[in-house]
Amino acid sequence: MLELLPAPPVDPLWDLTAEYAADPRPDRLNLVLGVYRDHTGVTPVMAAVKEAEIRLAQRSGSKEYLGLSGNTAFNDAMLATVLGTEALTSRATAVQTVAGTGALRLLADLVRQTRPGTTVWISDPAYVNHRPILEGAGLTVRTYRWLGPAGRPDDEDLLDDLREAGPGDVVLLQGCCHNPTGADPSFGTWERLAGLAEANGWVPFVDLAYHGLGDGLEADLSPTRMLAERLPEVLIAVSCSKNFGLYSDRTGCAVVLGSSARALRHVETALQNAARTLYSMPPDHGAAVVATVLGDERLKAVWLAELDAMRHRVTANRTDLVAHLAALGHEEPARALARQKGMFSMLPLTPEQMRRMRHRSGIYGTTSGRINIAGVPAHRIPFLARGIADALRTDRSVGHPYGRGPADR
Ligand SMILES: Cc1ncc(COP(=O)(O)O)c(C=O)c1O
Repeated sequence: MLELLPAPPVDPLWDLTAEYAADPRPDRLNLVLGVYRDHTGVTPVMAAVKEAEIRLAQRSGSKEYLGLSGNTAFNDAMLATVLGTEALTSRATAVQTVAGTGALRLLADLVRQTRPGTTVWISDPAYVNHRPILEGAGLTVRTYRWLGPAGRPDDEDLLDDLREAGPGDVVLLQGCCHNPTGADPSFGTWERLAGLAEANGWVPFVDLAYHGLGDGLEADLSPTRMLAERLPEVLIAVSCSKNFGLYSDRTGCAVVLGSSARALRHVETALQNAARTLYSMPPDHGAAVVATVLGDERLKAVWLAELDAMRHRVTANRTDLVAHLAALGHEEPARALARQKGMFSMLPLTPEQMRRMRHRSGIYGTTSGRINIAGVPAHRIPFLARGIADALRTDRSVGHPYGRGPADR
């Protein structure tokens, strides 16, 4: 039977990560995956998380099955954290998922159960897994332009494309710190998007994977909350991988705002049914940790301070890179980078230049130009800037207008 299996495509990011691991150069830099690293290059376990884990280990607990919605204390804490007000949490339901990816998949499944073949709009360029997740759930995918030539969202292109989204369509938007571009719209543009959704009847589907790492937790959540206030129905996929550093504990939540209690009950059951057939229920550990942190004012304050420190380190890295690039004579790319937010930066390099940077300098980013700015130890920024400048010097004639990079290989 297995002889019939055609060669499947290899995941581009993990493929590059394997290439990095096999690279013998000691000064190589892995900036492929979106993982925060501290100044020593380590992805730390946050102090608030460690303390919660100690508390959980000391509790004489049980590992009995939880219900199909997972850890309900975690779900309630996620609703309160993401939505912020009783007016919104009272219109919402939440189901724990296997991290942000699980939330995206369950919500895609919910859309399919509601209306098979629904069109979901994603950004171009998009997070590499958006299209496969949505198509894997049986949905139709269309794209809207995200980046203009200045390296930030071009309102007119974005809104023009989304004017074609109609009633019953779903529009997937990254709530902050857009992956892969690091380019976020202004709050005014978010409001125009809300107006378009109101006028044309499409449903926003917000992917929250980096809240807290752009302008701060509350600021990063404000576009999502504004959409939730203005629109009757909103889907939200929440990941705790980055902002709690719980990458391997696979912690996340599917949140749905609806206009009636009856619809929300159906939503919860539909999400549970989707989980039941995929993995039955999610693992508890990460959710129990997050519920412990968010349920204790002191621990929550420790976590918020750590999250802020992470954000400041990422911002300092970007500022430093911008200064070094400008000093090397690359003012224009430096200006574009300076406007970006969150863990990723999109370099104005062609796929060929990205490959050359990998081969000549041992700097690994994705072929589309994305690098994980949160993965660079501070003292390696000059090395990174020199690598980028070297790649830019080669083959400059080709140019790479932002937003026209091909999909990652
Ligand atoms: C935009 C976006 N959404 C969702 C995810 C999924 O994250 P996870 O499943 O690790 O929580 C990621 C991970 O990189 C992402 O970048």
